[in-house]
Amino acid sequence: MNAIAVQDPARDAPLIIGRDAELQLMRRLVGRAEAGEGGALLVRGSAGVGKSALLRTVHAEAAGRGLTVLSASGVETERWFPYAALHLLLRPLDRNVERLPPGHRRAIRQAFGAEQTQPEVHQVALATLELLADGAHRRPILLLIDDLQWVDTPSRDVLTFVARRTDDHAILLVGAARSDHVDPFRWDDQADLDLGPLDEAAAAALLDAAAPELPPQARALLLTQAKGNPLALVELPKSVQGTPEETEHLPLTRRLEVAFAIRTDSMSAACRMLLLILAAEPTAPLSRLLAAASQLTGSAVTLDTLQESTDAGLVALIDGHPEFRHPLMRSAIYRRATITDRLAAHRCLASVLADDPERQLIHLAEAAIGPDEELAARLERFADAAQAQGKIAAGVPALRLAARLVRDPHRQTRILIRAAELSSQLSDRADTRALLAQADLNTLGPVERGRLMLVSDNAAFEPDEPQRRIHDMVLVASAAMDVGDRHVAEDLLWRAAARCFFQDGDAATRAETAAELQRWNPDPDGPHSLAVRLYTEPYRYGADVLPRLHRADLDRKDGYLLHFLGSGAMVVGDFTHASRFLARTAAIWREQGRLGLLVRALAGSWPRFYLGRLEQARTESEEGRLLAREAGESIAWLGLTATAALVAVTRGEIASATRMIEDLRASSLFLGMPFAAAIAQQVNGLLALFDGRAGEAYDVFARIFDPDDPHHHSVSCWLVVPDLADAAVAAGTVDQARGLLADLADRAARLPSEMMRMAEAYRDAVLAPDHDAERLYRRSLTALPEGCLLIRARLHLHHGRWLRQQRRYLDARAPLRTARDEFDRLGARSWAEAARSQLRAVGENTGRRYVNIGERLSSQEMQIALLASQGLSNREIGERLFISHRTVSSHLYRIYPRLGVTNRGQLAAVLTGNDQVGD
Ligand SMILES: Nc1ncnc2c1ncn2[C@@H]1O[C@H](COP(=O)(O)OP(=O)(O)O)[C@@H](O)[C@H]1O
Ligand SMILES: [Mg+2]
Repeated sequence: MNAIAVQDPARDAPLIIGRDAELQLMRRLVGRAEAGEGGALLVRGSAGVGKSALLRTVHAEAAGRGLTVLSASGVETERWFPYAALHLLLRPLDRNVERLPPGHRRAIRQAFGAEQTQPEVHQVALATLELLADGAHRRPILLLIDDLQWVDTPSRDVLTFVARRTDDHAILLVGAARSDHVDPFRWDDQADLDLGPLDEAAAAALLDAAAPELPPQARALLLTQAKGNPLALVELPKSVQGTPEETEHLPLTRRLEVAFAIRTDSMSAACRMLLLILAAEPTAPLSRLLAAASQLTGSAVTLDTLQESTDAGLVALIDGHPEFRHPLMRSAIYRRATITDRLAAHRCLASVLADDPERQLIHLAEAAIGPDEELAARLERFADAAQAQGKIAAGVPALRLAARLVRDPHRQTRILIRAAELSSQLSDRADTRALLAQADLNTLGPVERGRLMLVSDNAAFEPDEPQRRIHDMVLVASAAMDVGDRHVAEDLLWRAAARCFFQDGDAATRAETAAELQRWNPDPDGPHSLAVRLYTEPYRYGADVLPRLHRADLDRKDGYLLHFLGSGAMVVGDFTHASRFLARTAAIWREQGRLGLLVRALAGSWPRFYLGRLEQARTESEEGRLLAREAGESIAWLGLTATAALVAVTRGEIASATRMIEDLRASSLFLGMPFAAAIAQQVNGLLALFDGRAGEAYDVFARIFDPDDPHHHSVSCWLVVPDLADAAVAAGTVDQARGLLADLADRAARLPSEMMRMAEAYRDAVLAPDHDAERLYRRSLTALPEGCLLIRARLHLHHGRWLRQQRRYLDARAPLRTARDEFDRLGARSWAEAARSQLRAVGENTGRRYVNIGERLSSQEMQIALLASQGLSNREIGERLFISHRTVSSHLYRIYPRLGVTNRGQLAAVLTGNDQVGD
């Protein structure tokens, strides 16, 4: 692997002018990192505004204070090489890699080595985090990554992962990126540092330092032209005649490029050629660059040839390797060259880099004029090999070049789709969209069209026009099946089905999707068909499908199949099976470090809520929310946030539930996603109910049942039956509620899931006429599915309330006590308070409020405590939760006193009885 430009801070000891506020901020962050409170900051700004200068200054200061400073920067031509930037960044820690546990060591070695297999990016990320955390434990670390916009995607993913986990480590990450870059990445929810132009005084001072002898008029003109851009202030005075008049209308960046290019006009041909070679290949060994230049000029080009360009201030020698002093100088040289020269340079580089097949191929492709089928085929083979080794990031640019080289538009589009597929696997959504935009849809057959739809559904999910989109997907799936591509057809139909649920497709659309599956004559026990049927037509297939689903073999190791089973169960409210299947799915993806897939499996926190496993629902939805952000899984984020809010309102965390629902409603996807809208509405209703606004609560819940309301969901509405019934009793709207639920019995017969049985049992008792209530409470408590602990406790609460209403105060006490104790045990504080107030009303002193363990710990602390109580080591816990073992240990130190224990051995005793051990 070749090196990327490294910056030597001692090279040009930074003399920075102005930038007081920025430096102050940096110093504060460095100070915090030294104290063990790490952070991450992204500096954005235009070319030449002084990002690198700022980073260099911070580098020197921090090194002076004794921090370990690791630095690297992206180079435009290096995006082909997975982990190139990270490798360079971590090189100084090479020896520490030996000290990592074997799994982490292997991940890093494989990522950086020429190994045939590449680990999952999140395995590399976790290993990197551990490496840095261990290093920072001995001495604080400052990581500086310049020109982040050119850093290869896997390195960027790892850095983003680390950036979000620096909190309790002595690690500060500072990155710099061009603000004009299309794909802005986020490190943090905090604001980035936007580096603007220098203020007037600083600009004048810089110009005077760079060009002390300027006549006043020229000085004034330059100050105006430079607009506070330091690169312009330093470099424009060097062009004796200034830049040509006709460039005045150009943006500053282009003008600077012109000014740089003009400097080569008086150079020798040999030097110009060497500069062009360097611009085309900035990182190959110098000897190769000289060889290429010699070959092209027909005379011996040596390092001395460079002298003119160093004199002109375009290049500096750093550790014996020439480097452009600013990236704009590189692009200036490259753009200025004639096409003939550029192609010749690439051709020649290809020949001198014959022993480096990847680089050779890049240059061959850059040197090609017009179509070259053979070369395109080579690039495709290269991409095949890269993909087979898991080096997906290298496959994308190869395919992009290949697409340029083929003549046949159909073949070109096929190559582009493949590039987009790989890019989407890298979660590089902007890049995926750019590739898709180039594809010519008119030339596509059904399979390509299907693949295209799949990729764009992933990278550019559009919530509008759901019925039309589902219809299109089904048509294309159908055509793909007819030409024999079962894989694409099934995947597409699955997506169509998923939209039927998430976007609550209308009856015709649902029927069309299910009918297409029917046409394929699928194995009725296959996980794919079970899931598609539950997603699309649950009332039609439920009675047949659910027993098949329950018989499905739990020992499967295939995460995808388990996901079908689990999510199929989830969307029809088959809580127990959903949560069991999805827990297995999550464990598989966790183990493999597949974050995006893990996030989707963590959606299993939703059914857990209905099982009364509030603690687990809380930790999983909170974890999922964070990871969903990280993995860009916006639909999963909606569902997880909705679940987290539902848990929060039940736990009595009113402010946090309110905030989460506001976030949810602010999402651009929200209104196109009735599955999430219904839950948001449910939470708002509960907030009103607990606040004593029963009438309002009833109206809020009722809208979920109204097909014309955007919060309506034709299946999930049944989850809200208990809430609606509660509000109806409190608001005196029992008759209306009965009317709204008129369909329930029929639906429940067709779809005998736990959700439906729960809804029926609850409605029967709570909305019962007084004369029959006694019997119906008894019957409902038996009919209620076993696992529905929270709803069972709510039934007890209502039973007590009803007895009290009947003035049977003594009888009321037993069910109310049962309800209170169960709510306490589950951590359902809002309900526990309701039970207590009923108890007081029947004359019972309810005693001190029981504090559930979960109330003393944050969701992540709870997760850590549970895993520790099961005997996992800190490292193992870190691996499961994608955090460093040191973070785990500092959490544990905070957890012990709060639980009144002194070591992990005692944790189990405190946590049992909390009913939160997983399946
Ligand atoms: N605040 C400053 N004081 C003095 N020189 C600066 C300052 N900011 C930038 N420069 C100089 O201006 C030129 C361009 O700055 P650089 O940091 O390379 O820009 P960027 O990285 O944003 O493209 C460099 O020569 C740099 O040393
Ligand atoms: Mg820079």
